[in-house]
Amino acid sequence: PSIRQLLSTHTPSDPTAPVRVNGWVRSVRRQKRVAFAHITDGSSHQGLQAVFTNVDLAKGLTNGASVSLSGTLLESPGAGQDKELVVQAVDVIGECEPLEYPIQKQTLTTEYLRDHCHLRARTSSVAAMLRLRDNTMRTLHEYFQAQDFCYTNTPILTSNDCEGAGETFHVSHPDQTASTSSNAVTTSPREFFGRPAYLTVSSQLHLEALATSLARVYTISPCFRAERSQTSRHLSEFWMLEAEWAFTHVVDDVCQFVEGMVKHALRQDSNDLSVLSRDIGEHRQRSLEKAKGGDTWMRLTYTDAISELEKAQATTRQFEFTPSWGKALRSEHERWIAEHLADGPVFVTDYPASLKPFYMRLNSDGKTVACFDLLVPHLGELVGGSLREERLGLLEEALEKQQLSKADYGWYLDIRKYGGAPHGGFGLGFERLVSWMSGIDNVRECIPMPRWAGRMLL
Ligand code: 4AD
Ligand code: MG
Repeated sequence: PSIRQLLSTHTPSDPTAPVRVNGWVRSVRRQKRVAFAHITDGSSHQGLQAVFTNVDLAKGLTNGASVSLSGTLLESPGAGQDKELVVQAVDVIGECEPLEYPIQKQTLTTEYLRDHCHLRARTSSVAAMLRLRDNTMRTLHEYFQAQDFCYTNTPILTSNDCEGAGETFHVSHPDQTASTSSNAVTTSPREFFGRPAYLTVSSQLHLEALATSLARVYTISPCFRAERSQTSRHLSEFWMLEAEWAFTHVVDDVCQFVEGMVKHALRQDSNDLSVLSRDIGEHRQRSLEKAKGGDTWMRLTYTDAISELEKAQATTRQFEFTPSWGKALRSEHERWIAEHLADGPVFVTDYPASLKPFYMRLNSDGKTVACFDLLVPHLGELVGGSLREERLGLLEEALEKQQLSKADYGWYLDIRKYGGAPHGGFGLGFERLVSWMSGIDNVRECIPMPRWAGRMLL
C-alpha cells in the first residue's frame, strides 16, 4: 500500500503487527536518544514521520535516499500527524550523496528548479501540483461522463493548421531527401507522408468529424504551438481539453456547459489544492471562492466590451494599446474586463469574424461570429469556443476569405454535406486551469516538463 493508504485505512487487528513502507527521505532530524525522518512516496502531501528510538538505525539516512522501512504504525504523541512509524529495520535502497544532491531543503528558486527539471518533482510543491493535475483530470472526466460524452483520441500528426495562425511545427524525417529505392513505399522522397505533416495545434476539426457520429465527444490531448511569446500563459507543448457536440444552436449552451464544468473542477475535494492556494493572498482566494459559488458568470458581447474599454481609456488612459472595434483584445484589456468590469470569470461573446478562425458560425449581422472567450481574473483567457459553421456555402466563403484552400479541407466540408448538423464546442488550456485555481504564477510550473521557445531540457 501507499503511505496515504496506510495512514487512512490502517486498522489492523493486531496494532503491533509490522508494516513496510517504501519511499524517499525528505529530511532527517537527529537528537541524542531519538531520530526522526520525514518519508514520502508521493501519495499525499503529508508523508510519514518515521521515529528511530535506536539512533544507529538512522545513521545511513540522507536527504533524497530511497529506503525501505519496517516497523509499527502507532498513534503519534507529537503534533502534526496522527500516526507515526516506529522503525525496527532500515534498508537503504538507493544512496543519495548529500553534498552533491541538487534538491536541498532550503527554498529553491523557480528558475533553479526549471534548470533541474528532472529532479524538481521531488519538491513538495511540484509533487502537489502533479497530484492536482491528476485529480483535476479525474474530476473533468467525471463531469463529461455524467453528461454522456464519449472520450476519444485524435491524431497528433495532422495535415492541417486548425487555427490558421501559422504556429504549427512542421514534422520532417531525416531521410526526407534520400531517393526512394525500388522496393520502398511510393511516397514522395521529400515528405514521409507524401504531403507536409504538422504537430496538432488543436483536436477540434477531428473531433467535429467524430461528433457527427457519436454526437457528444471530448478529448484531452497534447497540443503544440510554435509561439514566440514568452509569457506566463504560453507553452510550446500543452494539454488541451476539447469537446464537441451536435444539435446545439446557441452559443450560450456552450458557455453554460463550460461554466458547469469549470465550477465542478474548482469544487473538487483536494488537499493539494488547499495547500497550493494557501499563500495566494486574500484577494485571489476571495476571487476563486466567488467564482465557484452559485452566481452565474457574466456574459458580455465583444461590442459591449469594446465600448466599456473605450470609456475606461477615455477617462484613465490606462491601456498601452487603444481599444477599438475590430481590433483584438490585448491581454491588458482581457485582465481589466475580468478583474474590474466583471470582477470574476466572464464570457466575452460574438467577436468580429475577421479576428477569429474560419470555422466559427457567422451571426445574422454578417460581421460577428457565434463564439466566446472565457476570461478569468489574474490569468486572462482560459477557454475558447464557438458554434461551428455548418452551412456549406458560408463555410466555403469563410475559407476563401482567409485564403485557405478548399482542397485541403475537402474532408471537413464533407461533414457538412453528409448529414451535417448544427454543432459547437470549446477548448480549455489544462495548464492554465491548474495555474488559475492553484495560484501557481506560471504555466511552466503547471506541467511536469515544460517546453517553450529556446528551452527543451530532457
Ligand atoms: O483559443 P484556442 O487557440 O482555441 C482553439 O484551439 C480551439 N480550436 C478550441 C476549440 O474550440 N476546440 O485555444 C484554446 C485554449 C486557450 O483558451 C488557452 O487556454 C489554451 O488553449 N492555450 C494555451 N495554453 C498554453 N500554452 C499555449 N501556447 C496555449 N495556446 C492556447
Ligand atoms: Mg483563443
